Amino acid sequence: MRVTAKANSNIALIKYWGKRDASLNLPAVGSISVTLDGLSTQTSVWFKTGLGKDRLLLNGTEESGLALDRVSRFLNIIRMRAGTSLKAFVESSNNFPTAAGLASSASAFAALAVASSKAAGLTLTEAELSELSRRGSGSAARSIFGGFVEMHRGEKPDGSDSIAEPLADKAFWDLRLLIAVTSEKAKTTDSTSGMTQSKASSPYYPVWVDTAEADLAEMRSVLLAKDFQKVGEISEYSCLKMHALAQSGRPGVVYWNGATVKVMHAVRELRQSGIPVYFTIDAGPQVKVLCLPENEQVVNEMLQLIPGVLRIIKTRPGDGIQIIEAAE
Ligand code: DP6
Repeated sequence: MRVTAKANSNIALIKYWGKRDASLNLPAVGSISVTLDGLSTQTSVWFKTGLGKDRLLLNGTEESGLALDRVSRFLNIIRMRAGTSLKAFVESSNNFPTAAGLASSASAFAALAVASSKAAGLTLTEAELSELSRRGSGSAARSIFGGFVEMHRGEKPDGSDSIAEPLADKAFWDLRLLIAVTSEKAKTTDSTSGMTQSKASSPYYPVWVDTAEADLAEMRSVLLAKDFQKVGEISEYSCLKMHALAQSGRPGVVYWNGATVKVMHAVRELRQSGIPVYFTIDAGPQVKVLCLPENEQVVNEMLQLIPGVLRIIKTRPGDGIQIIEAAE
């Protein structure tokens, strides 16, 4: 069976950074995210007789090396569960420019988990799909669900409770996110390596883990109360705390460029003038700016004026995973 699935990317308001177990990819902390409308990956998977190895077509280009290895390792989990040794043909494309540093392992592994498990004949619940996606990438576990999502750190060594669950659907709150793209180059330190470095060498790491539960509880409560100011404040706090942690390793990892910092200041200046607007940044130089629909235009105009902002992508809470096609 050839199965095509689609998943949206997501942005964490409370950040995941650090692993309690690297082999099963179990997070050291929980996280809370918004699934993003219109920033998606569509992936088709077909387990085929006669293939000597897995093949991966990414945005129309045949991949080998690291990208293919990561996908093959993930497919090995599926093959083991489904009891098959067949290799797969995987065709995947992002509907947003991959070169923009927005290439998302979250949407990629959520779509791959859904398409490959079904193509191998497995019938999994959303919780099981979340657990499976996590093996590919921690943030992917959240992209199974739409709207507002919480990922649990979990306690069990086998990872069965390290899964995401929905907090509220996309209709719950029409927030707006504007992504200020400040670099089209691929980042130099990926999240996995950045996390390893923080855990191995930052003196802040134990504090980050110890204070995570309090941040999650606070965000959960202000989010469900639709307190925009608090949601924004705690999002900025979690973002800066995560980056301080990454920067405090040996060597520290700095994901920002000059324009990233300019956007952070501009957001705070606009806020001083009375517009509720906040930023959050993942392991890269792009800034995700959070506002309410009535302020989207003024925020967009402000961002356009900042030197170094190459373009702006507008998004809002979106849907979870979708099966597009399943055909024999
Ligand atoms: C900064 O999910 O990319 O975006 O599990 O190693 O694949 P791996 O990491 P990944 O890390 C995301 C880190 C982050 C914060 C977040 O999305 O919560």
